[in-house]
Amino acid sequence: MIIILIFVTVFALCLFLWQISNMVSVFFGSLYVKADRKLIYNSLKLAQLKKGEIFYDLGCGDGSSLIEAAKFGARATGFEISPYYYLWTKLRTFRDRNIKVVYKNIKEVDLSKADVVYCYLLPEFLEKLSSKFQKELKSGARLISVGFPIEFTKNSTFSTGASKVDNYQIKNHQVYIYKQSL
Ligand SMILES: C[S@@+](CC[C@H](N)C(=O)[O-])C[C@H]1O[C@@H](n2cnc3c(N)ncnc32)[C@H](O)[C@@H]1O
Repeated sequence: MIIILIFVTVFALCLFLWQISNMVSVFFGSLYVKADRKLIYNSLKLAQLKKGEIFYDLGCGDGSSLIEAAKFGARATGFEISPYYYLWTKLRTFRDRNIKVVYKNIKEVDLSKADVVYCYLLPEFLEKLSSKFQKELKSGARLISVGFPIEFTKNSTFSTGASKVDNYQIKNHQVYIYKQSL
C-alpha cells in the first residue's frame, strides 16, 4: 500500500512539474514540441556541422538535437528555460562529455562563439531574436530554423535573398538555413 502511495505521489509531482514547465515555456517564448530525429539529423547535415564545431540549440527541449550533434563530433550546448526539460536533458546526457545543458533564457545567451545555431521556435519569438542573431553570430556561422523563416532587415549581413537562403522540406517540415557573411 505504501509503495503504491509513493508511486502515485511521485507521478503526481512529475505531472505537476511538467504542467508548470509548459507554462514557463509559453511565458518565455515557445511551447515544447518535439522535432523528429531524422529531421534534426538532416538539418545538421545541410548546415554542414563538422567535428569540433560549437553547436547551440536554443530551447533544447528533450536534448535530441544535442545527441545528434555530438554524433557529428560537435561540442553541443543546449539552453532551456523549462525546468522539466532542463532536468530531463541533463539526466539523459550527463555521461556525454561533448554535451552541456544550461538553464538559461535564450535572450541572455551569448551566441558569438557558436558555429551552428539550431532553433525550433515560434515566429513571434524568432522575430524578437532576429537582431540578436544579426549582431552576435560570427562570420561563417550557420543558423538553422525549423518550421519558420526568420525575417532579417534589408541591410542584414545574413544571406537572405531567395537564392541564398536554403529552404528544405524535410518530413513535412520546412527547414531554413542561413549563413552569416559579416
Ligand atoms: C518547439 S520546442 C523545440 C525543442 C527542441 N529544440 C527540438 O527541436 O526538438 C521549443 C523549446 O524552447 C524552450 N524555450 C522556449 N522559450 C525559451 C526561452 N526564452 N529560453 C530558453 N528556452 C526556451 C521550450 O521550453 C521548448 O523546450
